[in-house]
Formats: sequence, C-alpha cells, structure tokens
Amino acid sequence: MTTESERNLIIKKAHYNLFKINAQDVLIDLLTDSGTGALSSEQWAAIMRGDESYAGSQSFQRFESVVQDIFGFKHVIPTHQGRAAERILFSVMCKKGSVVPNNTHFDTTRANVEYTGSKALDIVIDEGRDPNSLYPFKGNMDIEKLKETIKKYGVKNIPLCMITITNNSGGGQPVSMENVKNVKSVLSEFDIPLYFDAARFAENAYFIKERERGYENRSIKEIVQEMMSYGDGCTMSAKKDGLANIGGFLCTNDDLTAQHQKDLLILTEGFPTYGGLAGRDLEAVAVGLQEVLDESYLHYRVSETRYLGEHLTDIGIPILLPPGGHAVYIDAKTLLPQIPLLQYPGQSLAIEIYRVGGIRTVEIGSVMFGEVNSETGIETPSDMELVRLTLPRRTHTQSHIDYVIEVMRDIYQSKDELEGYKITKQTAFLRHFSAEFTPI
Ligand SMILES: Cc1ncc(COP(=O)(O)O)c(C=O)c1O
Repeated sequence: MTTESERNLIIKKAHYNLFKINAQDVLIDLLTDSGTGALSSEQWAAIMRGDESYAGSQSFQRFESVVQDIFGFKHVIPTHQGRAAERILFSVMCKKGSVVPNNTHFDTTRANVEYTGSKALDIVIDEGRDPNSLYPFKGNMDIEKLKETIKKYGVKNIPLCMITITNNSGGGQPVSMENVKNVKSVLSEFDIPLYFDAARFAENAYFIKERERGYENRSIKEIVQEMMSYGDGCTMSAKKDGLANIGGFLCTNDDLTAQHQKDLLILTEGFPTYGGLAGRDLEAVAVGLQEVLDESYLHYRVSETRYLGEHLTDIGIPILLPPGGHAVYIDAKTLLPQIPLLQYPGQSLAIEIYRVGGIRTVEIGSVMFGEVNSETGIETPSDMELVRLTLPRRTHTQSHIDYVIEVMRDIYQSKDELEGYKITKQTAFLRHFSAEFTPI
C-alpha cells in the first residue's frame, strides 16, 4: 500500500516511466501477463524432478515430447524466452533488405527483425485497426495486402511470413483458422515459410472454438494441432501460454535451418537440450503447456478479461472491442482528445492510473511504436494510442478486478484535466523500457 502523495514522488523519481518503478510500490501489477502468473501444484511437483544434466536431460526429453505432441514440429529448440527464439530465427533467415510480413509484430519481434537490417511489415485487416469494430477475428492478416507485399518486394526478399496468435499489439485479438489457411495457400504458391508467434496459442484456439463455425465440438488441442499443421515452425514465449515464469522455444520442420539455429543457440543461449534454461524450467513449461489446454481454465481466463472490459465500457471508457484474451486495451486517443498524439495520451493515462490507484499498466502507442526518422528527427505517431491492462494468469480474484474498476471510475471523472508529456531521454531500440519523461 502506498498513498497518492507517496506515489506522486515515486513516479517523478522514476522519470514518469512505469518500468522504472519497484514492484513493492505497485498495488496491482497489470504491466504484463508475461511470466507473472502463478504456477500450479503440478508444475511445482515437476520442478522437483528437474534433471540438470548438461546434455540430453530427461527434463528436455519430456519438454520436447510435449511440444512435439501439441505443436507437431520436427525440431524443438529451447530458449530462455520468446525474444531469444526471435533473434535466432531472424538472424538465420533474414539479411539486410529482407521483408517480414506479420499481422502485427510484437515490439521485440519488430526490433529483432529490424536489428538484422530487415523491414517488419504489419498487414492486419482494416477491422483490426478500428477500435470499435466487433469483427470476431480482428487479428487476421489482410490477404490482399499479403499478395501485394509479395509482388512489391519480390519473393526472394521475403524469407518468411509470421502470424502472431493472438495479436498482442493489435489488442490480443484472435486469428481465425480460415485466415491461417488462406495465408498458407498464398505463401505455398511462392514457397515462403510460415512461422507462428505462438505466445498465446491456447487463448487463440479458445476464441476459434467460441467463434468459428465448425470448431464448436473440437478440443482446444485439436484446434492447436490443426493450426500448427499449416506452419513451418514457430517462436514461443512460454511465459504466456506456457504458464511458466521463464522459458521459450523455437520450432522448425526444416533440417538445415534447424542446424543453423542450433549453432547460433550454442553461441548465445546454451546447448540445444537446455537453451539457457534449467532442467526444472523445462519441466514447468512441459506441464504448463498441457494445463493451458484445459477448457475450463481458458473459460475463466477469457471471462475475467471480458468482465473487466464490460465494466470499463459501462463507465464510458472507450476500449478496444471486443476485449481480447489476456488484456483490456483502453483507447486513450478517444478518452483524452485534449492531448496531442506526440504528447503521448497513453503514457499520460498510464501515469494517472498509477498515481490514483497504485495500478501499473503499460502504454502501447506512440511511446512504444512511434517512429523517429533518424535523419530528420521527425516523429510519426503510432496508429493507436492504447493503455493495456494485462491480467497475469491464475493470479487475481474478482475483488482485485473490482478495485481496478473503481479506480478507473475515479479517473473517468477527472479525465479532462489530464495533460501530455514529452520525452527527455530515449534509446534507438525499444525506447519505452527506459525512456524518461517530463510533464508538459
Ligand atoms: C506476441 C508476443 N511475441 C513475443 C513476445 C516476446 O516474448 P518474451 O517476453 O518471452 O521475450 C511477447 C512478449 O510479451 C509477445 O506478447
């Protein structure tokens, strides 16, 4: 517990960047659902069985067989988290001038693509950019734009295409099976491999079961297996639907690519049967990947998010509709029209939510995705100015969520008084983690 006046000092000392606040100064932490959930008793039990052999541990064998059973890919390469899998994937497959289409790149994915000198292209459908559209699969890729992209940049410059399930940066919105099949059929014509960013694969499958005709009676696992069958590989942050605190993996069906990936893995992560993880971490992920397929768990997960979203809507707070799987995204551009986009309305709102209620959220707008031209210094704002209230898995009760709703009701009353911020210090990549701000 902290008082509002204590929080005023804390946030000022952190240069108005919520990533720089200590966790003990946060009452409810909705910064991310990444690695922040609670482990189950079965996971803790499995952790006790961790085999810490350097090579060929039993923990790796269990991990590999669970991943192969669910995802169906030939090579399973453990990494310490999702971005390590991304770095290896793009380092091996991309070169300067390559283009990687995605529905919407997550921030680390975009940064890892760009770090190789390649272009990260977001081609989500138009509905996915409209905060008010109730389209059931707003994470879908625009098939026409995919075709245009291939025509414009040329097949030889597109080493792979990604699909992010669910589409985190586009509001945690799902991708339909039909869309995946259509993407695959376009790519097959040109022999372009399809990789999934599978961080929230089970939540995506739950939405398919709920919303897509023909899947009502299929199990979550069957839906995942079908979706993955259209892919050539995937990256995975096991900190999300792996229900673990750390871990990730990279999968591929291609032997030569896998060899290059493993070579790079040894250089930076570790031997291919542990990839920067302890044996006990591999055990936690192996159990988590099976638990996440439980439909009643997914029902609870999606209902909790929906509950928060519906209450915010009742207050009058504009959110990205419909609520996604892991988070509710407030449309700060609409809520705070008095703040110019390059004075970061999302950042202003996130700061206010912390100041008033001790709740930590995250801006997903121009601070995270604004593009600064390195030659002119001119900044282009992001398409959307969102604040994400992300729910850690298996962590909160309804009374925690009710408290968040009460705080948001208070903020709604005084929203017209909120003002913008300017950035006083920033880095070239992933600036939101360390940027410093000052109120205008
Ligand atoms: C869609 C998506 N891809 C990739 C990542 C990166 O994973 P990690 O944080 O494990 O590096 C995240 C993390 O939030 C994500 O949401």
